[in-house]
Amino acid sequence: MKLEYKNGELCCQDWPLSRLADEFGTPLYILSSKAVQKSVRDFLAEFKVRGLPIKIHYSVKTNPVPGFLKILKQEGLGVEVVFAHELELSRLLGFKGKDIVVNGPAKTEEFLEKIKNTQVKMITVESPGELAKVNALAETLSHPLNIGLRVCPGFSFVKMKPTLSSSAKDSPYGFLPDSPDLWEALDAIGRSKMLEFVGFHMHLGSGIRDSRPYKKAFFILEDLVKKAARRGLKSRMIDIGGGFGVAAAPLLTASQMAKSAILKKHIDLQFDQKSNLLSEVAESLSQLLDRLERSGNTIEEVLVEPGRILSGSSQVLILSVIDAIERNNGQRFLICDGGAMSLSPLLLTEYHKIIPLKLQDKQQVNYTIFGNLPTSLDKLSTSLPLSPVHARDRLVLLNAGAYFVPMNNNFAGPRPAIFMINGTGSGLIRRRETFEDLYQRDLL
Ligand SMILES: Cc1ncc(COP(=O)(O)O)c(C=O)c1O
Repeated sequence: MKLEYKNGELCCQDWPLSRLADEFGTPLYILSSKAVQKSVRDFLAEFKVRGLPIKIHYSVKTNPVPGFLKILKQEGLGVEVVFAHELELSRLLGFKGKDIVVNGPAKTEEFLEKIKNTQVKMITVESPGELAKVNALAETLSHPLNIGLRVCPGFSFVKMKPTLSSSAKDSPYGFLPDSPDLWEALDAIGRSKMLEFVGFHMHLGSGIRDSRPYKKAFFILEDLVKKAARRGLKSRMIDIGGGFGVAAAPLLTASQMAKSAILKKHIDLQFDQKSNLLSEVAESLSQLLDRLERSGNTIEEVLVEPGRILSGSSQVLILSVIDAIERNNGQRFLICDGGAMSLSPLLLTEYHKIIPLKLQDKQQVNYTIFGNLPTSLDKLSTSLPLSPVHARDRLVLLNAGAYFVPMNNNFAGPRPAIFMINGTGSGLIRRRETFEDLYQRDLL
């Protein structure tokens, strides 16, 4: 999202953000439709330039906001849903069955019932128990269900890499390669007239900045596609999941977290805006498809389920400073109207740059910044150098477009509004929560 100071005021496409904060109150999310379109196009470019048959299915849970999802629809994207309400919302927004992939480790009967009326592109089965449920549903239908099998690569070196947690050997998500469960599931699908095998799915984790795990997992997929073909099950597609990290908002390492929590040091990451992750993944995907083609296993379509890389950098969050505390011993604290415990606990594990809404003098002092809950876990930043800040000043937290809105809670009161800056009509796409919203489910 392009931000610049004009006459000392932070602006996005000529909109002074302080004006929006005055009008709609804070905390306030600002979403840029232009930034969303750019991240979609940049993402696709790496795959298209290699002629890969790629289709994006955005991971809805990352930012399940209708106004935002509509932009993705206009860009021709599909969706990946993991809950019944996400499926319902996607259909309401006009996504057709061919645009929908159904995933998630918790497909309840209620959720599966909702799939009945939509011929979705793929339902990913993650375990033998789930296969039995999906099979029972399929028996009641007049058309076969498109089934993908999720594979957990079973990486063993991930203990030190929380970004790869979904693909660890001890993770419950998907069938381990070459496990008896996997072959039995494939054979059961092969025997059923109502289950149509479409291919394999994987999702390695989140915030991944290194292409090596993808490359390693592609060899596992290759082997499985060939072995399934020998059992008579052709893979029309493969789904390589999401997990692509946002260069400007990386996940913190264990030592960085300790440095911030124990040594109270500011972590100022020099991030690499020109990450090679996507081009390296696209290149090794291209090699995978070539190898499969040569062995007679042509893949018609590659599905990809990015979340944070498409939305993370398209949104910022404006916060107001409620109190600025300066202790006699020189410690300086800011109390803002939102923090990690009410906005997103991921703030404790991800790097997010914070900048002032108005440019002030160059002299800087260090502030440790908290939200409005009386707990040290409600932190936003440790020892951040800023020009002197006073109560009622405003700060902007960058790259707040992934896993913020869905993780917002009411611990600290009503949840924020979202304002979209859009060339063809800017405005609120979600209003601030009210007292009535907060208590409407209570039965007195
Ligand atoms: C199956 C699946 N696909 C895609 C995603 C999106 O991940 P990310 O936001 O890291 O791209 C997730 C997130 O957890 C997921 O579980």
